[in-house]
Amino acid sequence: MKKVVARSDCALHSLRILAFCALAAALTAIVPRATNPCAYSISRSILAVTGLDPFLITCSSDASLSDGAGDKKAGSGGPIVTDLHLCGDPDPPDHPPPAPFHCCPPMSSSEPVNFTFPDPAEPLRTRRPAHEASADHMAKYKRAVALMKALPRSDPRSFYQQANVHCAYCSGALRQPGRPELPLQIHFTWLFFPFHRAYLYFFERIAAKLLGDPGFALPFWSWDVPEGMRIPDEFADRASPLYNARRNPRHLPPKVLDLEFMEVENNYTDEQQIQRNLWVMHKQMVTNARLPSLFYGQPYHAGDSAMPGAGTVELCPHNTMHLWAGDISNPNVEDMGVYYSAGRDPIFYPHHANIDRLWDAWRHIIRTTHGNQTQADFTDPDWLDASFLFYDEEARLVRVTVRDMLDADKLRYTYGGVGMAWLNARPPTSPGVNGKRSRLKSVSFPVSLDEAVTVEVSRPAPPRNRQEEVLVVEGIEVDSADFVKFEVYVNAMEYHKVQPGGRELAGTFVTLKQPGEEAGTMRTTMRVALNQLLEDLGAEGDHSVTVTLVPVRGKVRIGGLRIVYVAE
Ligand code: C2O
Repeated sequence: MKKVVARSDCALHSLRILAFCALAAALTAIVPRATNPCAYSISRSILAVTGLDPFLITCSSDASLSDGAGDKKAGSGGPIVTDLHLCGDPDPPDHPPPAPFHCCPPMSSSEPVNFTFPDPAEPLRTRRPAHEASADHMAKYKRAVALMKALPRSDPRSFYQQANVHCAYCSGALRQPGRPELPLQIHFTWLFFPFHRAYLYFFERIAAKLLGDPGFALPFWSWDVPEGMRIPDEFADRASPLYNARRNPRHLPPKVLDLEFMEVENNYTDEQQIQRNLWVMHKQMVTNARLPSLFYGQPYHAGDSAMPGAGTVELCPHNTMHLWAGDISNPNVEDMGVYYSAGRDPIFYPHHANIDRLWDAWRHIIRTTHGNQTQADFTDPDWLDASFLFYDEEARLVRVTVRDMLDADKLRYTYGGVGMAWLNARPPTSPGVNGKRSRLKSVSFPVSLDEAVTVEVSRPAPPRNRQEEVLVVEGIEVDSADFVKFEVYVNAMEYHKVQPGGRELAGTFVTLKQPGEEAGTMRTTMRVALNQLLEDLGAEGDHSVTVTLVPVRGKVRIGGLRIVYVAE
């Protein structure tokens, strides 16, 4: 928690605010908007000079909220590219980690080669769910991890270096070319799915090579279907290389997992928990993910500041499952619960294989059968040409683009073994929970979510090419040294009467800790799809919707709420 200025500091505080305003005014006059892609960085520098807590003041000259991306507007544009020369010490978490860490990949003696697709004649690897994979299959994964752990740390294929790949792209170690002040952060952006697909692709091929088994496929942890909703047994065996002591001891099998987990255990029966998990999956995969940007996350170009906005699945269950698996008794929730160390847990890879499977399912099935008949992918070259560097099974440095990662079939792997149990798990509504609207207090943004806040948001007239009506939660600021959760309810000002996981719970916002973000504050946005929701609530004809933001954990500020129509 950030400190709150004590009374006796008041005079000093006022002086600081005066200094802040004077400097802000002067700088705003001197620096024209055009050369100032991120007004926030100015306010940040002023904050540094004046020593103000960033939670106590917002630079009023911050870029307007008009585009829904807050002040995340592009700088120079162009695709994000990776340069290993631009790697340095990661930003350390506020709480000292159990051991010091570095996460830059080893340098290569030669230039990276461009990615080429595997031979189409290669056998198709079938990734199978851990809960029903054969003992032989799980034994292979176990052996692959053991072999990777046995490689010297200098080998880019070693488990140590593989785990570090994730750290480098998430913890401020890699920086943007030409913009050393900007971290290269692939989370909370449209790079989330393709980056992790590439990461697993090389991890799997390294495992296959070490095993001498060219057909080896990763098992996946299918936490979205009832049979997969617990830690697979192989990971809980203390003698196994798949075991990790830094996991929540209360979540060992047969404990049923909670896809909306945040810190506290609930007291549902297994049956109730499973049902709620299926509702979460349905919302995040089907009703809330009806456009590419809602599913993938927001655009992130070269020169943009980090974390413009995450897609549905990344917020939850991706982030929540990281927190559920990590050891919550560690302040940073190592290993799984924080970006820098998540790759050190052998369960990370089956976890992300499931994320990848959900991407595949969305692209091929959900989008066409339940979506808004949109395109599958962004067509923006800044997405398609964004690139990452990985070492392959021959320890060659390879440059891979998002474009290379779109089609799992071309990468010669597929998923088998489970269906989509949540496909028709439409959550129930709780009628009569929005009765007292006339008593709403007026709210002026930005607002600190110290308690639930309810706002009536008017719906603009739909344009001719209306596609999806989207609620944008703008200018979200969270304490980056903490993990944070808030919930977004629609037409439920008496939200506590909504049955847990019910339909009026329209969206769930969750972050992991973000060491080193600007001035200790992570700034982002969130989007909630409204078409299906308003239909389910019988509210399509209303002129406005009632939005209630409910803090669950951590310090959050909200810049504003707005409804827009998005066509993609
Ligand atoms: Cu890159 Cu699951 O996090």
